[in-house]
Amino acid sequence: MDNLTYVCEFGDLPQNGHLKQFTINNVKLLVLRDLTGNIKVVSSICPHLGGDLLNGTLNYNNNTIQCNRHKAVLSIDTGETKTPPTITNLSYLNKKIAPVNLPKLNIYKIKIFENRVYIEGEILPQRCAVIF
Ligand code: FES
Repeated sequence: MDNLTYVCEFGDLPQNGHLKQFTINNVKLLVLRDLTGNIKVVSSICPHLGGDLLNGTLNYNNNTIQCNRHKAVLSIDTGETKTPPTITNLSYLNKKIAPVNLPKLNIYKIKIFENRVYIEGEILPQRCAVIF
């Protein structure tokens, strides 16, 4: 049980093809369940500028989620950015951003036993892109 953090009861998981958000240790996590019942847990915070991926669009054909704020497409397998965010005007911030250097989306390993779902390893806040 070392290094495991309780997430929820198995019965509280989303239905196949759906997702659900949990907040564990003040970190927002997204539990995703594909059409065949496979479960993944990723950060619910977009590594671009912190958009909530609960409102994103899942694509199980290529295991990605698209953030609805600036349309970055992120792998839910590796956390890598597949398509960078689209921002046409940041002048209101008077700042620049390098969209191809997004931090990886945090991906978590899970363990299920005795009808309970746990995350294995440390739960870290999502790092987001640095605006400079
Ligand atoms: S906050 Fe997600 S793409 Fe910008």
